[in-house]
Amino acid sequence: MTKPLEGIKIIDFTHVQAGPACTQLLAWFGADVIKVERPGSGDVTRNQLRDIPDADALYFTMLNSNKKSLTLDTKKPEGKEILEKLVRESDVLVENFGPGALDRMGFSWERLNELNPKMIVASVKGFSDGHHYDDLKVYENVAQCAGGAASTTGFWDGPPTISAAALGDSNTGMHLAIGILTALLGRDKSGKGQKVAVSMQDSVLNLCRVKLRDQQRLERVGYLEEYPQYPHGEFSDVVPRGGNAGGGGQPGWVLKCKGWETDPNAYIYFTIQGHAWAPICHALGKPEWIDDPAYKTPEARQPHIFEIFKTIEAWLSDKTKFEAVDILRKFDIPCAPVLTMKELANDPSLRASGTIVEVPHKKRGTYLTVGSPIKFSDLQPEVTASPLLGEHTEEVLAGLGYSQQDIFNLREIKAV
Ligand code: COA
Repeated sequence: MTKPLEGIKIIDFTHVQAGPACTQLLAWFGADVIKVERPGSGDVTRNQLRDIPDADALYFTMLNSNKKSLTLDTKKPEGKEILEKLVRESDVLVENFGPGALDRMGFSWERLNELNPKMIVASVKGFSDGHHYDDLKVYENVAQCAGGAASTTGFWDGPPTISAAALGDSNTGMHLAIGILTALLGRDKSGKGQKVAVSMQDSVLNLCRVKLRDQQRLERVGYLEEYPQYPHGEFSDVVPRGGNAGGGGQPGWVLKCKGWETDPNAYIYFTIQGHAWAPICHALGKPEWIDDPAYKTPEARQPHIFEIFKTIEAWLSDKTKFEAVDILRKFDIPCAPVLTMKELANDPSLRASGTIVEVPHKKRGTYLTVGSPIKFSDLQPEVTASPLLGEHTEEVLAGLGYSQQDIFNLREIKAV
């Protein structure tokens, strides 16, 4: 089967997580992704948090599958010359260096556009161009703070909190992938490349849009009825942290199940969807609540929503999280067990769907990684191992017309 992105050549000038997550996704879908790395060291994540001495860390292998690795010192004239050749015959260059690094290297957007007017140049930065913080280097948690996630995550009596989900890094990479694909489609029509820029702050904020919704509601009416602070607590003039509240039209909370005293993950998320009230009452053995004026409507329930959650917890006390969900699903109640990484890693459904895959690696043996979360009817993305540092240098240079002797010479001066 031909993969949709086959024939698209991508210079992957990315490192750490945001950029590599983007190019890995495009590689899964068939793009020829050539990761350009500094000779001798490569992407910093090859060495970070290593669990096996002398083997690439999982941090690297889980973000760089299906790619080739070319080592190139792009600060040396010989390295620049090779990069220029590569630019002339590639479709996309993706980078997430600190602000100005690509310009300092001599590869500004103008220069790249001059070398290859059809090329799409895609960048991740912490803040967008022209922003008053656009000179800042940014990592995941910095972006979560700058994009509104931290101030709205956690409990109201605790500090701003970071999410474990990579809202700043991988999320920005996913936005960039959409931008690149859009620019590729645009190029089919216009014949021209363009610059695609995504900032981590903007990408976090894009996922926090419901909190921007809440800010406006708060300013208009002075309260947010779905937050735990309503109706007994106080609201200030900014969206508060809502703990585990539902956040949409449905109240919800994380509820204790059998074994919570010793198992920190013996919980389910329970949602009280308005039109599921009668099934919820039947599931809990509380049919008298169905027409009780104190429980009948969402408005009537909200003032004592935490008493309702306590009653549900009493019902859950002799059920494991899995037993509880098995009962509740029969009543069509939106809920899920709180799953640990161990449970997810061993989940047979995730293995069967290719969401979690085992990949053989030249140095590590087999390792576990994520596969494509996007499923197609006519494409089964296959995950292959991340490359060793410089594994494809010779192959890529030969493809650019360099002879064995040229490659030897370039190695002598450590340009590749
Ligand atoms: N050959 C020669 N030099 C190379 C090279 C290569 N193959 N690859 C990179 N470099 C150089 C760059 O030219 C730059 O040099 P300069 O600063 O002298 O101009 C340097 O290596 C890399 O700089 P930088 O990207 O700023 O690295 P850093 O480790 O100081 O900062 C980040 C890391 C992630 C904070 C920074 O890259 C950043 O803010 N990126 C944008 C936001 C982002 O993506 N963050 C999320 C990361 S998950």
